[in-house]
Amino acid sequence: MNAPLTRWQAGDGAAPRHVAVIMDGNGRWAKKRGLPRTFGHSSGARQVRALVEHCADLGISHVTLFAFSSENWKRPADEVSSLMSLFVLYLEKEIRDMNLNGVRLKVIGDASRFDARLQKLIADAQSQTAGNTRITLTVAANYGGRWDMLEAVRRWQAAHPQRPVSELSEADIATYLSMADAPDPDLLIRTGGESRVSNFLLWQLAYAELYFTDVLWPDFSVQELDKALAWYADKDRRFGAVTQSVAS
Ligand code: FPP
Repeated sequence: MNAPLTRWQAGDGAAPRHVAVIMDGNGRWAKKRGLPRTFGHSSGARQVRALVEHCADLGISHVTLFAFSSENWKRPADEVSSLMSLFVLYLEKEIRDMNLNGVRLKVIGDASRFDARLQKLIADAQSQTAGNTRITLTVAANYGGRWDMLEAVRRWQAAHPQRPVSELSEADIATYLSMADAPDPDLLIRTGGESRVSNFLLWQLAYAELYFTDVLWPDFSVQELDKALAWYADKDRRFGAVTQSVAS
């Protein structure tokens, strides 16, 4: 087994600032072991801390995790309720250590559908970690990229009732998106074998490198993360332009 990377080793200074992750495959991981799907989710939640710590050690400033999509309400009621309990447990358990480790927590998505206790925990966790600067961990919960864009336009309009929509710019939309204060993700990782973005950060992923792996989320170790980062380091990111060598 390779030793984990200790510092960003791309060699060209192109460290990702922001890594976004779709944590897929929990249910299949549990099924393979003859366990209920909810065991897959709790095992998946246990992976999060080591991966966030590793990103922080490498100098990555933002990690964003898709924990619950707007579409996940369609799952069986007991699975939804166990995901909510897991979220509560995670917030109750991790905040102290997040503060010790310099992790700022943000939650994006429509929290209004969560029960009052979870809404309060989310608000408290965000305010208690707001001063931490080592890494920002954003958890997307009841989140959808289309919802985010629609909300941004509505909020812009509410803030500028006199301005015609023909004046609305990309920069305006970006200002009102829920990730407005973060750089766009450089790298999206999706575990679990599917190759789609599933309504995650649709606006912000415009130029992200997309890394898909068959590894199921509870098996996505620090070594697997290093593989994804090494893959990213080989990419030639042009943002629609041409490379220096092609240009000359
Ligand atoms: C997708 O796997 C995963 C989810 C819908 C939930 C992800 C949540 C966690 C890992 C735990 C909570 C995390 C935090 C940060 C508190 P799936 O169930 O769709 O897997 P399958 O495709 O194998 O069925």
